[in-house]
Amino acid sequence: MAGNRDHFLLIFLSVALALVPGSMQLQSSQTWSLLKIQQMLNYPAVLSHWHNNTDFCYGGDYKTTSAFVECYGDSVTQLHIIGPAGGSPPLPKTFSIDSFLTTLSRLPDLRVLTLTGLGLWGPLPGKVSRFTSLEIVNVSGNYLYGELPLALSRLGNLQTFIADDNMLSGKLPGWLGRLPLLAVLSLRNNSLEGTLPESVRDMGSLRSLVLASNNLSGNLPDLSSLKNLQVIDLANNSLGPVFPRLGRKVASVVLSGNKFSDGLPSELTSSYLLEHFDVSRNRFVGPFMPALLSLPSIEYLNIAENRFTGLLSGNMSCGENLLFVDVSSNLLTGSLPACLSSGHKESKTVLFSANCLSTGDDTQHPSPFCKNQALAVGIVPDQVRKNPSGAKAGLVAGVVAAALAAAVLAGVAIFFAVRKVSMRRAQARPARRLVEHASSAYPSKIFADARYISQTVKLGALGIPAYRSFSLVELEAATNDFEVSNLMGQDSHGQMYRGRLSNGTPVTIRSLKVKRSQTSQSFNRHIEMISKLRHRHLVSALGHCFEYNLDDSTVTQLYLVFEYVQNGNLRGRISQGTEGRKLTWVQRISTTIGVAKGIQFLHAGIIPGLFANNLKIVNILLDQNLVAKIGSYNIPILAETMKSEGGSGNKYPSDRVANGDKIDIFDLGVILLEVVSGRPITSIYEVEIMKEQLQSALTAEGPTKRRSFVDPAVSKGCSDESLRTVMEICLRCLAKEASQRPSVEDVLWNLQFAAQISSQVEAKH
Ligand SMILES: *[C@@H]1O[C@H](CO)[C@@H](O)[C@H](O)[C@H]1NC(C)=O
Ligand SMILES: *[C@@H]1O[C@H](CO)[C@@H](O)[C@H](O)[C@H]1NC(C)=O
Ligand SMILES: *[C@@H]1O[C@H](CO)[C@@H](O)[C@H](O)[C@H]1NC(C)=O
Ligand SMILES: *[C@@H]1O[C@H](CO)[C@@H](O)[C@H](O)[C@H]1NC(C)=O
Ligand SMILES: *[C@@H]1O[C@H](CO)[C@@H](O)[C@H](O)[C@H]1NC(C)=O
Ligand SMILES: *[C@@H]1O[C@H](CO)[C@@H](O)[C@H](O)[C@H]1NC(C)=O
Repeated sequence: MAGNRDHFLLIFLSVALALVPGSMQLQSSQTWSLLKIQQMLNYPAVLSHWHNNTDFCYGGDYKTTSAFVECYGDSVTQLHIIGPAGGSPPLPKTFSIDSFLTTLSRLPDLRVLTLTGLGLWGPLPGKVSRFTSLEIVNVSGNYLYGELPLALSRLGNLQTFIADDNMLSGKLPGWLGRLPLLAVLSLRNNSLEGTLPESVRDMGSLRSLVLASNNLSGNLPDLSSLKNLQVIDLANNSLGPVFPRLGRKVASVVLSGNKFSDGLPSELTSSYLLEHFDVSRNRFVGPFMPALLSLPSIEYLNIAENRFTGLLSGNMSCGENLLFVDVSSNLLTGSLPACLSSGHKESKTVLFSANCLSTGDDTQHPSPFCKNQALAVGIVPDQVRKNPSGAKAGLVAGVVAAALAAAVLAGVAIFFAVRKVSMRRAQARPARRLVEHASSAYPSKIFADARYISQTVKLGALGIPAYRSFSLVELEAATNDFEVSNLMGQDSHGQMYRGRLSNGTPVTIRSLKVKRSQTSQSFNRHIEMISKLRHRHLVSALGHCFEYNLDDSTVTQLYLVFEYVQNGNLRGRISQGTEGRKLTWVQRISTTIGVAKGIQFLHAGIIPGLFANNLKIVNILLDQNLVAKIGSYNIPILAETMKSEGGSGNKYPSDRVANGDKIDIFDLGVILLEVVSGRPITSIYEVEIMKEQLQSALTAEGPTKRRSFVDPAVSKGCSDESLRTVMEICLRCLAKEASQRPSVEDVLWNLQFAAQISSQVEAKH
């Protein structure tokens, strides 16, 4: 019975959902400030619905996608005012940025601020130092000018600062390195000049650095120390000539339109997390590394308009995810790799004109042209570099695909243990109700500014049906009127049903009783959050439905609709798998890569991130293609409620982030431990013991002891180095000290690496 509970609590929404603070009034001083802001902005059209009797916080009707306020209790925590798409003309001469900020500072709990395209003008005054609680700022598309003031360095909680399309000038200040939490810095299309300060290397939290379309010059500092850096976009400056040192965990690198003129470093071929790479329109010379085409994560590769040389050949391989390749206007010879030619994957774009390839049409130069040009820039065009890792990466892709295909077995495991329930279903449902229309709109832009940065996450929700609100009628049809045979389980908060939508999509429907009388608006924030829980590696949210009391239109029940993932859980394919159903080594790595990507999304793909998700191997579900999906995560409604009770107000977010993410890394370590050893782990005591065994297996001389730790079902099929890599990262995840545990990107890189080298051996067999 106890085991079943884990299964049942698939989506653990906490009890506190029923305890959301009810309607409250915004402090009148803050209402005054908001109206004053409206006046100072010269009554923009997007605020035409703001009046002095507006219920800014809890009146859902006053929220539009271009202007809304979020509150916690009686205080504003988020203010979003988004001007028209093309921006607005500068505000009149009477506008003073100084008094504007004074008014704004009367919202002392402001954490998220969007003021874009509103015609704000002036230099940022020292007063910005007052906004110490600010975490996320987007002031793009205004007319802010002058240098970034030193006062900005006092905003110790700042995580995201976006001021694209302004007129900021001067050098990037050295104090940037002092903002401890800054994760996103975006100053695209301003007039910044000079070199990047060395102190950028101290920005340990930095995930995304966007400085495209400025007038920056010179070489970049060594950025390999930025362990979290995933996105770097420095296009359209005058940077160079030396290609920068970057960490191996970058996901997106855009350096197009600069003055880079050396070659590309060979380290790039081990950027296993790289998805987007654009070095077009530079002066690069030297050989093009075909291994870039076959990086495991690569989707977009653009080297156009350089002077890359090299002999391409038909048998070169491409990464599975490749969608766009542009090699045009270089000095390449040979023939186009077959994996790039059309017909392979219809959505792939491949551009290659103006090289010296043997395509047999007039898009190419004659080959002496490339030779002469190469000689002119001092390169002797060499033979194709036989790049072993390139060829092997291709094999990996093949092996993984084949393995996955082979493993799509007929048996469909039912994940949920159906508990015997002897309740009459009618009892759970109020007699009267009002059916909500499926079209009701939610302010879909809450947190929009904060929305993630990395391509990984942006693309993550591809293929999942759009989030929407459901009508009760639809849910009744899907569950055959909530028939008991569809009941998967229940607990004190409500029931969970299995169902099938009219288009055939299988779903799980979680019902939650709402205890106090509340309007649907008071759920906006939670619905908004839940609607973001969509990613390839999560059991994703598909929608919700409110059931109303007819008398007063308050909500009596909330239904949440999630994907139904029907191929069992990961343990069923590892330690409890019967012969033939156990995953191979490559499949094990690929499912754990999926889990790590899901964790990465929960931490950084939504804001606020979800941490401490109590991840368990039995809650990692597999779909028909053995894609791993995290089936339970910690929607922090409870945490929020407790925060307000504690009364400590603005708790430092870094604590939560710094420790929270490492809790999930520990849990991932426990999952890896089971994946490697093939033995079920059900207590922390067992974790301790097996961790010791792992440690001694790793330190032993020679591979024999190491192999003895590994599940015999896979031990033969994996290379020693692949095995050691996974065992080592597993051990690091299990470190006692949270700070010693690796970042999720670190884990991902190591798993990708292990995947690459595992099949070197498998291919030999
Ligand atoms: C709100 O504005 C109206 C005029 O637009 C005014 O008559 C009224 O007194 C104002 N109410 C408050 C509370 O300021
Ligand atoms: C760059 O910013 C200016 C405002 O400073 C704006 O007018 C222009 O359209 C922006 N350019 C691009 C390409 O977005
Ligand atoms: C960029 O900086 C150079 C000096 O480094 C200067 O000559 C040039 O005018 C600047 N360009 C713009 C558009 O500001
Ligand atoms: C850089 O400038 C080119 C044209 O000058 C433009 O097409 C491209 O979008 C710009 N790239 C970025 C990243 O701003
Ligand atoms: C690829 O083709 C080239 C000739 O085009 C040949 O020399 C090379 O051995 C081939 N490599 C593999 C791995 O088949
Ligand atoms: C900042 O605001 C602009 C204008 O509203 C928007 O286009 C952009 O996506 C926002 N930036 C981010 C990272 O959300």
